[in-house]
Amino acid sequence: MSVKLIPDQASAMAYKVDSLFMFLTAVTGSVAVVTFLVLLVFIVRYRRRAENQVTPRISGWIALEVSWTVAPFFIFLIMFIWGAILYFEAVTPPVDAEDIYITGKQWMWKAQHVGGQREINQLHLAIDHPVRLILTSEDVIHDFFVPAFRTKVDVLPGRYVQTWYLPTKAGSYHLFCSEYCGTGHSTMLGNIVVQSRDRHSHWLEEKAEGSMVLEGRKIFLKYECNSCHSADSSQRCPLLEGIYGRTVVLSQGNRIVADENYLRNSILDPNSQVVQGWKPIMPTFKGMLTEAELMQLVAYLKALKRGDTPSRNERSMPPVQRNTPDEGGGNNERSD
Ligand code: CUA
Repeated sequence: MSVKLIPDQASAMAYKVDSLFMFLTAVTGSVAVVTFLVLLVFIVRYRRRAENQVTPRISGWIALEVSWTVAPFFIFLIMFIWGAILYFEAVTPPVDAEDIYITGKQWMWKAQHVGGQREINQLHLAIDHPVRLILTSEDVIHDFFVPAFRTKVDVLPGRYVQTWYLPTKAGSYHLFCSEYCGTGHSTMLGNIVVQSRDRHSHWLEEKAEGSMVLEGRKIFLKYECNSCHSADSSQRCPLLEGIYGRTVVLSQGNRIVADENYLRNSILDPNSQVVQGWKPIMPTFKGMLTEAELMQLVAYLKALKRGDTPSRNERSMPPVQRNTPDEGGGNNERSD
């Protein structure tokens, strides 16, 4: 086994991060070398040569002081601008990136692809195909760290964070949890498998069951979201078609973009961000959905298009417990 100086470069970001890292190393390394060389020269050249030698009095040298202040300023400015550009690139996924949902928990990583494929401690990606990861935690803070991609993101409970990759090299790469999260932290490991496009679509086909959108639709029906959020619900709640990415005006008057975190929060704590013109009548669903189910529901809402909302009376499955004779009629039990 060969010893590697740096990990594999397997994503578009890896080369860029490494270039900046090399620049930082070169600058700080050469400053260190020059400092020690000057030190050695001065030790020899300006050593005390006689017992009664008197040190000459030297006062300031403005030109020297200005130059050793201004030169580092511009070098640091280069580091700052270069780093800032890379940072913004690292946190801005391309628009054509495919979403993958990740849940961290003590002590494993669970992944859901939009096509319904699920995996644990593994993540299969296609080469040259950008993906956007939407991550959350079921318990404590974890950190999704893929050295070969040079990306690292803290995964926080109670909200979604994101990162993105453009894998450039096929192979299997380490996935680490990089935030101490309890006794099993060191075993919270996994693999990122980057495959050729053909092999990846084959893999996706093999693993596909219900897509996330389909599963999310079931949850939507199970919790009877359609009894309010449907076109035939006498407008008790807003229709959610095309909500994702739209700017909504809240009752407090502030505007907010309906992203994944907005959708998540609207399900768990609906009355904290009521859309202007609607009454705060929605119950909370906190504690009723697992993180994985919540992600499926969010994926469903993101994909919900005009005219796709189930009608008010549609049920996900045969009503086993609720087969009362008046089931076909009005939904009297839910009148509010
Ligand atoms: Cu999860 Cu450390």
